[in-house]
Amino acid sequence: MKTFSALLTVFLLFAAPVAAYAADDHHRQDPAPEGNPENALIEEMRKLDSAFREIVSAVALGDGHRAHLAIETLHGAMEKTQEALHHGEVRLRKNAARAEDFERMDREFHADLEALARAAHHDDIREMSGLTKKLLDGCVSCHTVFRP
Ligand code: HEC
Repeated sequence: MKTFSALLTVFLLFAAPVAAYAADDHHRQDPAPEGNPENALIEEMRKLDSAFREIVSAVALGDGHRAHLAIETLHGAMEKTQEALHHGEVRLRKNAARAEDFERMDREFHADLEALARAAHHDDIREMSGLTKKLLDGCVSCHTVFRP
């Protein structure tokens, strides 16, 4: 009997922190059940933000190679967002009903980014400058409609 209560004490000692941990874990996931729905989009945006600063600087200095390297850092992030959107894992928090407009803006933005990568590859500074301005308009247009 003594052994049993000793075992019970040991069990309770371990069970309490585990239960607390589980509750805490649950609490941490509360704002976004099943993972953070905004994750892939926000992650892409943060990468886009730093890549774009680098691109602006590279274009200003006429450095196609540097611009090309910055664009390369984005590979994978955009595909991840598109996949997450299609699987309903990313939710538009503003104007969600206009998903088709979002997809069109996103497609156009990515096409311009690819054109910029080609221009950077050929060190075509004039073309790079024009596309960089167009891309900035793309950030602003999309945020105006879809950023909460
Ligand atoms: C096709 C639409 C679209 C384009 C294009 C776009 N964004 Fe965004 N961006 C969004 C949306 C939607 C949000 C808000 C996401 C949310 O908070 O749920 C956002 C949020 C952001 C954020 C905030 C992220 C955070 O930590 O909350 C940054 C920074 C950002 N975008 C940078 C950029 C830059 C820089 C560009 C252009 C080079 C750009 N975005 C182009 C849709 C877009």
